[in-house]
Amino acid sequence: MKVTQPHTAAPQWKRTERRVAIQAAIAGAALAGLAWTGAGRPRPVPKPVDLAAPRSLEQLGLPLDATRALVPADNPQTPAKVALGQRLFFDRRLSAGGTVACSTCHDPARAFTDGLPTSIGVNGGTGQRNAPTVLNALYDKTQFWDGRVNTLEEQAALPIVNSVEMGQPTLEAAVAGIAADKTYPSAFRGVFGREPNGPDLLRAIAAYERTQASFDSPFDHFIAGDRGAIDDAAKRGWELFNGQARCNLCHALTDTKADVTNFTDNDFHNIGINIVRHQVVPLARQAEKLIRSGHAEDIDRAAIQTEMSALGRFLVTKKEADIGAFKTPNLRDVLVTGPYFHDGSQETLWDVIDHYNKGAGLQNPYLDVDIQPLALTEEQIDDLVAFLASLTSPDYRGQGIEELARQRALSRTTRPQRDTARAFGPKPPRPSPPAL
Ligand code: HEC
Ligand code: HEC
Repeated sequence: MKVTQPHTAAPQWKRTERRVAIQAAIAGAALAGLAWTGAGRPRPVPKPVDLAAPRSLEQLGLPLDATRALVPADNPQTPAKVALGQRLFFDRRLSAGGTVACSTCHDPARAFTDGLPTSIGVNGGTGQRNAPTVLNALYDKTQFWDGRVNTLEEQAALPIVNSVEMGQPTLEAAVAGIAADKTYPSAFRGVFGREPNGPDLLRAIAAYERTQASFDSPFDHFIAGDRGAIDDAAKRGWELFNGQARCNLCHALTDTKADVTNFTDNDFHNIGINIVRHQVVPLARQAEKLIRSGHAEDIDRAAIQTEMSALGRFLVTKKEADIGAFKTPNLRDVLVTGPYFHDGSQETLWDVIDHYNKGAGLQNPYLDVDIQPLALTEEQIDDLVAFLASLTSPDYRGQGIEELARQRALSRTTRPQRDTARAFGPKPPRPSPPAL
């Protein structure tokens, strides 16, 4: 198995020679330990074909001061640390049995996702949640769909010890796994001045992830004044996004100002994804008992390995209002990070918008008050998709074109979420929540 390839049949990108070359380079370097080892060695100049490489801070639309301010005082960015983190990110020896790397589920060739509805880890174990992209994760105020940790350092520890992801009994076991390779101790000493250890391993991985800022999309060029950078459909879509379609109520920092940077309010909402499938009340009771401790590892197990996953933010806060609430994701590169939502339940952006258009349409007492029927026509839905597609950074331009064509073709034959009567109907009354 290649390090960067998930081991089941997933919706395939068309394999271009370019992608094969990139994967071979990544896998070869990670396996042979050839690249990125020397502590003081200059990092390779990021080339557009090298999708794993640290990205430039000079991208149109990238908020430079804010990006620099996000680097924690106790983990400054250095080229050698980033290079070590990059190598660790692609190293399957971090996992029990040495089969799964971070990149298995966050593959740069798939915009740092795995293309699967929910992820598959060691021994083919399946989780309950869709792998979000690592691109721009540095800007997230909290990590994971339920925000159960705040920093990238804390985040990286959890998949390593989750039994269906990387399967290690402890973080120390992962350290032992990589320290057997003689080149790692010297790299750690060069970067941190000490032998390999858990906290430094997490610091290096987080430093690498902080280089994955992804901007410079056609939309950024449009906002910077190049009126021709996006087509008329995308322009109409941007208007709808901030108007009739009400997307800005959550995918913007504030309700009243258009957001051209991260497209998220850093908050959590129940927007009605799969909530009726679950008996949330008994699940909530179960969760309250099981995770009284509030430890991130306990929440992680519940979120990845049990039906309680559907409870979302409730697992973290135990507040009834947070049942089924999930983090508002950043929408950059969303065209190439499907399938969509925390459970990967929707295959195309048309399906996503159909869901919103009918106001979720469910009898869901925890549904966010801002979700309501939108009365969007087919043309308006196409325009919204065109806008979302314009948020694709140049590294994924080719894939974006192929993926948009694939999704468009699917949307013309299969629309499982479409319900025009509801979309143009009144807002249904919201049932009151059952007693917990
Ligand atoms: C088996 C697949 C798998 C592996 C291996 C894996 N992840 Fe993930 N990753 C996921 C899934 C699924 C989620 C979402 C889980 C959730 O929200 O509960 C996630 C979430 C994340 C997030 C949060 C992003 C966001 O928007 O909230 C980051 C960052 C991340 N992973 C980085 C890593 C790193 C670093 C490693 C290696 C140490 C790693 N992942 C290993 C599947 C995986
Ligand atoms: C009430 C807040 C809210 C509104 C309004 C809203 N969203 Fe979302 N959006 C969210 C949340 C929360 C999620 C994640 C939900 C989940 O997975 O359970 C999400 C997920 C998404 C996703 C999937 C992203 C991914 O990585 O899987 C897309 C695409 C999206 N929204 C686009 C839109 C568009 C387009 C609109 C307007 C038609 C819109 N949203 C309106 C809160 C909102």
